Amino acid sequence: MSRVPLIVANWKMHKSVKEARSFINALIPLVATSKKRIFIAPSYLSIAASVEAAGNTSIIIGAQNIHDQIEGAFTGEVSARMVKDCGAQFCIIGHSERREYFQESNLLINRKLKRALKEHLIPILCIGETLQEREGGLVEVTLGTQLKECLMALKEEEIRQIVIAYEPVWAIGSGKTATKEEAQDVHAFIRNYIQDSIGKRIANDLPILYGGSVKPENISNLMAEPDIDGALVGGASLDVISFSQIVNF
Ligand code: PGA
Repeated sequence: MSRVPLIVANWKMHKSVKEARSFINALIPLVATSKKRIFIAPSYLSIAASVEAAGNTSIIIGAQNIHDQIEGAFTGEVSARMVKDCGAQFCIIGHSERREYFQESNLLINRKLKRALKEHLIPILCIGETLQEREGGLVEVTLGTQLKECLMALKEEEIRQIVIAYEPVWAIGSGKTATKEEAQDVHAFIRNYIQDSIGKRIANDLPILYGGSVKPENISNLMAEPDIDGALVGGASLDVISFSQIVNF
């Protein structure tokens, strides 16, 4: 992946098919001159309609999650192949809400990453520490373990295809953004970790996004930091004006 600035909307469990379609129709003219890459992750049910609405613009649609198995008796689940079939090109993997509410472990996330890569979906791997871990001085230990276990047994050419999103759990949906210095320190740690464990070229090319209460008011400060290549946006991506302001800052 390249480090062309990338803004990702994570709509979580919001928006009907109709709302997804009209958001994208409204967004297209607002971001027509943007040089940034724009990804949107609607609910599974809106993927196909969103792909259709995005048409041949540069807006790319993806999924918020996938199952780790290729197919099978997993009632209620959705496979990577199914989202790909609907036109998804990427998927978010290991979001902290999945880790917290659906008990996703690093090992499961590792299997999901491998599945996404096999199905040619760009995986956006989310990592991040809790407030307790930050206050206990455990940021690097926590992120080091997450990176080691989530990327286990991935080949160099596979790691070259992923995006990492650093999302401090305490900043998600809380209105509390990490300061640009706090975020930059962690992004540099992640890039150094990849450099030491995999190699300099891959580390230099790796897009690392920041997520956690990103808004039109704080995006430019964050993006000015050398190791912050984009943002994963939840709440502020639900409104087309604020999302377009984040894209166009
Ligand atoms: P937020 O969510 O922007 O609402 O904090 C970010 C995320 O969960 O990806």
